[in-house]
Amino acid sequence: MSHLIAGNWKMNGTPASAEALAAELIARVRNAKAPPPGVVLCPPAPLIPAVLAVTKGTPVAVGGQDCHAKEKGAHTGDVSPVLLAELGCRFVIVGHSERRADHGETDASVKAKAEAALKAGLTPIICVGETEGERERGETARVIARQVEGSIPQASTAANTVIAYEPVWAIGTGKTATTADIAAVHAQIADLFGAGHGGASGLKILYGGSVKAANAKEILATANVRGALVGGASLDADEFWKIIESCPR
Ligand code: PGA
Repeated sequence: MSHLIAGNWKMNGTPASAEALAAELIARVRNAKAPPPGVVLCPPAPLIPAVLAVTKGTPVAVGGQDCHAKEKGAHTGDVSPVLLAELGCRFVIVGHSERRADHGETDASVKAKAEAALKAGLTPIICVGETEGERERGETARVIARQVEGSIPQASTAANTVIAYEPVWAIGTGKTATTADIAAVHAQIADLFGAGHGGASGLKILYGGSVKAANAKEILATANVRGALVGGASLDADEFWKIIESCPR
């Protein structure tokens, strides 16, 4: 089954650097000996048109990093999922832990955003993950269950939704969960999703948190891991390409 590698550029880049990074990546995709897995780039919202211009007609997809739950209206600074879809985005990340922490997003607001994304024809990449304290207190399974049940809309199916498991303590820290821990949480997510959404067969559950070229192969070969959500390492074309090439074939 094919994997999905998503690059979350976060609040980084300029029009020139974004175009250059996307172009470098597309050159590698074009020269690849074997067909690459699914690749999606999630630039900051103002850079989306520049990246779409470069990726148009290529297998590289583009996604937003967040969207509002409404289609339009008086929501200063927010981004409509309908606008993302009209621009040409195919994905949108929702419920990233940085948004949950910086903007007080709750499971309910993440669910509303994911629902709006689906309605707009986008594939939501719904993020869940425990904090370091929660893991130390043995609460990981309980937190994941609460987030999966609270953040995933009823309309989600294995075909229209992607889930990303990102332990908060592993994001941008250089620490990664062990493959045993990743396998356990991904199995739990698959079970919970499958029970509530007509099965988990084909569901893409990505791992995120300090994924880099050096650890990608092991992580991407872990049971129930169907791709990666990559932050820092997605800002370097060589490093990101090595992660893409680490997908099992
Ligand atoms: P990181 O970020 O790869 O820099 O740890 C991952 C993410 O936040 O999506």
